[in-house]
Amino acid sequence: MFFGSKPANENDIRKALEVLPHPQRGGSLGALAMIEGVVLKNGEATFVLKLFEGDQALVPELRKLSEKAVSGLPGIKAARAVFTAASKSAAPRKAPSVFQANHLGKIIAVMSGKGGVGKSTVAANLAVALAQKGLRVGLLDADIYGPSVPRLFGLTEKPRTENNKMVPLEKFGVRIMSIGFVVEEDTPIIWRGPVVQKAIRQLVEDVAWGELDALVLDMPPGTGDVQLTFVQSTPMAGGVVVSTPQDLALIDARKAIAMFRQLNVPVLGMIENMSGDIFGVGGVEAEAKRIGEEFLGAIPLALRLRETSDAGTPIVAAEPQNPLSESFCLYADRIWKKLEAPSSPRSMASHK
Ligand SMILES: Nc1ncnc2c1ncn2[C@@H]1O[C@H](COP(=O)(O)OP(=O)(O)OP(=O)(O)O)[C@@H](O)[C@H]1O
Ligand SMILES: [Mg+2]
Repeated sequence: MFFGSKPANENDIRKALEVLPHPQRGGSLGALAMIEGVVLKNGEATFVLKLFEGDQALVPELRKLSEKAVSGLPGIKAARAVFTAASKSAAPRKAPSVFQANHLGKIIAVMSGKGGVGKSTVAANLAVALAQKGLRVGLLDADIYGPSVPRLFGLTEKPRTENNKMVPLEKFGVRIMSIGFVVEEDTPIIWRGPVVQKAIRQLVEDVAWGELDALVLDMPPGTGDVQLTFVQSTPMAGGVVVSTPQDLALIDARKAIAMFRQLNVPVLGMIENMSGDIFGVGGVEAEAKRIGEEFLGAIPLALRLRETSDAGTPIVAAEPQNPLSESFCLYADRIWKKLEAPSSPRSMASHK
């Protein structure tokens, strides 16, 4: 059977593994970043698969699936899967404690992986759209590197303190708190694990949020320790992933999704931002389909969106009739419906 076909190399083996569907997590082994390494020696292939926490029981199934796929490649005499526990980089030695947040309603994290794709713009407009539905909404600017919510909402005043708690500023029906209110601009801060924990605790617990139906988190760019700490120490209802359509941004979006999945936070959906001629159209929808997550919709590259943001009035508040605002409201509706649905959003989104 091997006549005429070139013997497989390590790259071929990796590719064969990448496309295999995970038996339970919706998405391929490649999309879930499970393949840690491949070694091929004298026709004998050994590959390392990284398990997600709680997936130990799936080892026999994963072994069968992967070894079968690899041993079917030309020139492979034997295939052996080795499993490692949940990744060390993504699972810190000591998980941070989860904060008391029952009064905060559904906590929704807006994440992207890549910077500058429009997370803050999307988070701000989704928050206003949810508030326009009559919900009690908070917006927490968790971007400790470059808070932008104060600018997006045209807020320059400092929040007052009452009974040792900071009172969020309220605008367009949204209760807003930002690390930017408490930290001087241009003050470099070195954010390490314990400091991040403390900052998050302050923003979540030491703020007089009152009773909320939903709290939208505008996350800092990336999928490093800071994001991990945030997601782990705050009881999340779900995550929204924003990406621009081009490949490079999608690679980072994939990392954001992998992080949510690893921490068992349901992915509420993906939004394509800055959709249009420059970055292309449809990349995020195709990716969402590929990995089995819901595509919420696209927001085109539009000057007006930038202008309203710069003016300190999110477009949903400034021009509710604008089709861009209608899109944000539609996506907010979709997200809220998923959060209200009795079954978990994950099982609804993944195609079995
Ligand atoms: N659809 C859009 N059309 C035009 N401009 C946009 C669009 N979305 C966002 N922008 C503009 O792009 C810039 C970056 O957006 P934004 O700050 O929301 O991104 P971000 O992902 O939060 O960035 P960071 O990673 O720095 O936090 C802003 O100037 C914003 O006004
Ligand atoms: Mg931002």
